[in-house]
Amino acid sequence: MLRVGLIGWRGMVGSVLLERMREEKDFSGIELIFFSTSNAGGAAPAEAGGASLRDASNLRELAACDVLISCQGGEYTSEVYAPLRQSGWKGYWIDAASTLRMSDESIIILDPVNSSLIEQGLARGVKTYAGGNCTVSLMLMAVGALFQAGLVEWLTSMTYQAASGAGAAKMIELVRQMRHLANAAQKSPSENALDLDRTLISAQRGASLPTEEFGAPLAGSLLPWIDKEMPGGQTREEWKGMAEGNKILGLHPPVPIDGICVRIGTMRCHSQALCIKLAKNVPLEEIEQHIAGANPWVRVVPNNKESSLRCLTPTAVSGTLQVPIGRLRKLNLGPQYLGAFTVGDQLLWGAAEPLRRMLGILRRHLES
Ligand code: HSE
Repeated sequence: MLRVGLIGWRGMVGSVLLERMREEKDFSGIELIFFSTSNAGGAAPAEAGGASLRDASNLRELAACDVLISCQGGEYTSEVYAPLRQSGWKGYWIDAASTLRMSDESIIILDPVNSSLIEQGLARGVKTYAGGNCTVSLMLMAVGALFQAGLVEWLTSMTYQAASGAGAAKMIELVRQMRHLANAAQKSPSENALDLDRTLISAQRGASLPTEEFGAPLAGSLLPWIDKEMPGGQTREEWKGMAEGNKILGLHPPVPIDGICVRIGTMRCHSQALCIKLAKNVPLEEIEQHIAGANPWVRVVPNNKESSLRCLTPTAVSGTLQVPIGRLRKLNLGPQYLGAFTVGDQLLWGAAEPLRRMLGILRRHLES
């Protein structure tokens, strides 16, 4: 029986992964080993069949697994992956972290978009598979088909990213900030809009708003900077668009992708406004057909107010696997310029879902 080790299953992405694996009954027919970085010997979930938690820093225990799935984060991957490989371990490493994404020995997994690259990788013995950046994966779930049809000359993505992308502690702080502002508004003696605005701004700027995580007020505001600074004025989150996007699609030469990544006060859905320079003037209906036929999760939302407000918002999409894309229209810039808006749950397609699907692909490959 295939021995599959799980590391980081208690964290947010790991919890969503476990939930999805339970829903899809992914555990049948495998031996599941739960690892812990802090509680080795403790009680593991029922799927461990009574076995206790193993030590996630013990290379020998890790190496006894055929497959390791890590949601533990980049620091763990940096500490453990290389020594594990150096020890001679030839198993499959499936990782949510960004550490190994751009390595030559890895494939970035997003099988509704790049299943052929994954299959080719398995056939030539690639053993390392990394989930992509959430924004990039969600963008390609929506418009990957346009790249694959050779219709994209370049793309800009202006993002509206949820707190969850930065981790569970950030989500909690966002809610604390909301609570703080709601309390301030409640105490306001006036219902006049300008009075309320003054009350809120003073609460947002006040020293008692919790900002330890974000370093700034997010509730009722936004943060136009995500991740580290890169050369040329980009942030690392912005850099990933072109680097990871082209690697996922296997495009040579790469298609230019760039934009501005912004954190907004939503919990777990990332949204993106796209501007695509088409390689030729393709009718809108044809573009919609390419998009709608790409995978079972993408939905073309009619470009009208009612449909957009009902289907194309984080509130509508949160907790689902759907990737709606709407506001599709040719921009005033010219007939080769396409505008679009897309939304997706960053914990599902943006993080956990490609990992559990990779385990399924791998199992089918090993059984064939
Ligand atoms: N870096 C992303 C974010 C998370 O901060 O929203 C998913 O890769």
